[in-house]
Amino acid sequence: MTDECRKILRVLSGETLTPPPLWLMRQAGRYLPEYRETRAKAGSFLDLCYTPDHAVEVTLQPIRRYGFDAAILFSDILVIPDALKRNVRFTEGHGPEMDPIDEAGILALKPEGIIPHLTPVMETVRRLRRELPAETTLLGFCGAPWTVATYMIAGHGTPDQAPARLFAYRYPKAFEHLLTLLAEISADYLVAQIDAGADAVQIFDSWAGVLGEKEFEAFAVRPVARMIASVKARRPQARIIAFAKGAGYLLKTYRQKTGADAIGLDWSVPLAFAQELQKDGPVQGNLDPMRVVAGGKALEDGIDDILQRLGNGPLIFNLGHGITPQADPANVARLVERVRGWGN
Ligand code: CP3
Repeated sequence: MTDECRKILRVLSGETLTPPPLWLMRQAGRYLPEYRETRAKAGSFLDLCYTPDHAVEVTLQPIRRYGFDAAILFSDILVIPDALKRNVRFTEGHGPEMDPIDEAGILALKPEGIIPHLTPVMETVRRLRRELPAETTLLGFCGAPWTVATYMIAGHGTPDQAPARLFAYRYPKAFEHLLTLLAEISADYLVAQIDAGADAVQIFDSWAGVLGEKEFEAFAVRPVARMIASVKARRPQARIIAFAKGAGYLLKTYRQKTGADAIGLDWSVPLAFAQELQKDGPVQGNLDPMRVVAGGKALEDGIDDILQRLGNGPLIFNLGHGITPQADPANVARLVERVRGWGN
């Protein structure tokens, strides 16, 4: 019954729906006053992620407000380094920080106990599946090994991930070991989310765009392909969206090489190229989040272009990256109304 009523699952199986179903990356977040309220109650950001009562509440907030076709589990890609005891912290105004890892640190990483550490996340998933409307797809997620590794090596966010790129050239063996370990843990984590009730999962490779061609193949394609093969071998029904932000032309073979069911597109992907990619299967994206901040004609034109060019094939309407804190919730309501009104 579920595949029939969950529109996003239908698109992930290759159907074209008019209007396309939609959700927004980072749809639960600081642009919503109710999120800021729960966030203040929770204490630290990690407490918010690991307290099912709070995590369920913030996941449901954008569903109540806008009725999106998917809810995305509220958590963070950095719970994996946290489970690996890297001393992850989120301090106001600093973004995420953790202890930077070196060669010896990588070799000393212990992959045991990761899934037990993440038990509260699975509890959140189980409760969400019970509480969500039957037609709402529940998405689980994790970070791709490359993106998670960039934070583990630098110890914080950087504009171009130079520390991780340099580390990969200097210490190729240790770096490969880190990617392999993250791919294995992350595949187990996705399987656990699926078993807890996630209908589909998304792999976020937010920093794929800083890689050269060979490095994209080795650090973005290969580990994600291994993860997807591992998840699908164990859960053949699993549907997987892979989002390699900034990958551009390299997306041409990304779906086929990784085995992803759908690929996420950032806003820099030209729509003519997106149409090519859509011939091979479903795509998700790709409105510039700044159009949601700007509102008005910028918002409407951006939405219309995507619907006109990609709306006649399998499309999950989304942003090209996460919604930002300065977005006006009223503009999100306008976006939903415009997408839902298309083709009627
Ligand atoms: O609504 C959703 O999309 C679900 C929740 C979600 C969060 N992070 C919550 C969050 C998801 C899917 C993520 C993924 C994530 N986290 C990524 C990949 C996607 C992307 O945006 O590129 C990355 C790179 C991270 C790491 C991370 N977490 C950063 C760099 C930051 C700081 C930047 C920022 O926006 O503040 C976070 C913190 C974070 N994760 C917040 C939220 C709502 C804001 C923190 C807060 O509320 O104080």
